[in-house]
Amino acid sequence: MSEKKMDDKVIEQIKKLEEKYEVMGQDLSSYLDGLLYADYLTYWDYIHLDTLMSLQTPKTGLKDEMVFIVYHQHTELFFKLILWEIDQITNAEKLTEQFFLERLTRINRYFELLEHSFSVMVEGMEREQFLKFRMSLLPSSGFQSAQYRWIELCSTDLFNLTAINLRANLNPEDSVEKLLDAIYWKQGATELASGKKTLTLKQFEEKYGQSFIHRALAFKGNNLWQIYKSLFDGVKKDETIIDALKRYDLLANVYWPLAHYKSAVKYLQRDPVDIAATGGTNWQKYLPPRFQKVIFFPELWSEAERQEWGKGWVMKEVVRGKDPDK
Ligand code: HEM
Repeated sequence: MSEKKMDDKVIEQIKKLEEKYEVMGQDLSSYLDGLLYADYLTYWDYIHLDTLMSLQTPKTGLKDEMVFIVYHQHTELFFKLILWEIDQITNAEKLTEQFFLERLTRINRYFELLEHSFSVMVEGMEREQFLKFRMSLLPSSGFQSAQYRWIELCSTDLFNLTAINLRANLNPEDSVEKLLDAIYWKQGATELASGKKTLTLKQFEEKYGQSFIHRALAFKGNNLWQIYKSLFDGVKKDETIIDALKRYDLLANVYWPLAHYKSAVKYLQRDPVDIAATGGTNWQKYLPPRFQKVIFFPELWSEAERQEWGKGWVMKEVVRGKDPDK
């Protein structure tokens, strides 16, 4: 009896398949033959496990370099998911508040995971090994993560990403090229001694410069802030969405950057003279959110909150008594 029922179901499915293939002028029978000969899918083929496991290629024999590589790759995969969720929001045909909020909540979850897991870097490598293997990786830097920059460009108006000290001479309506020229991170890649662009920045711009222009143009009126403003703000003040946007702002621009900063504090020289000598940047004056003051959604914060951006957390979590930002 139950077998007969299954047969009917299979027949119904075959009819549907026939219709599907007919529309495209395809012969279902040939496709069924293909199914007959096809191998069963395996876990390792599905997620391309062999390829994935072949992508960790340390430059030195120091064991902890593997931790460093795998953790960077893990972070880039989550950056990919964050961009994936942003794309779903920006490409949605009919965007509802619920869909917007759900995708935003996913993004916050990914950033929380990245923030909390940063202990893998901060606690999980021997400093002596790190200081050696990082010399084999120069001049590359996580600074060159294009996905990180794309996330920023998709989240807010480009003006909000410009360096604070240049804003007096800028206007949100300036050309994308002009605003990109003043983007905050270019200031973080200037050599201490000479004031010139670092090689790290030059190479980054050479490879991704065009992609930044394209993305900035594409998301000018279609970034998360613009979407929120045009669809949900004013219609109804939805506190839940505002809370989620504010949480995202904090995670992306305070919590994750500070978890990351903690690793620089732990592993790197703290004397700017030493950094200058190796052609490096003054990361102590660049990385802390209280100096960068990147805020995706400034309109959602009070003047006092914007002024205090990033400060409390630094005092409590990073330095425990000594303030490296002074
Ligand atoms: C021990 C671990 C780490 C240390 C010591 C470290 C150090 C630094 C330093 C000093 C900078 C400033 C730019 C420069 O001088 O190169 C920087 C920038 C950056 N790093 Fe890391 N980093 C670490 C791990 C990571 C990881 C796991 C990621 C994940 C992709 C990452 C992503 C970034 C990004 C996106 C920037 C640019 C930040 C900005 O412009 O505000 N870093 N890092």
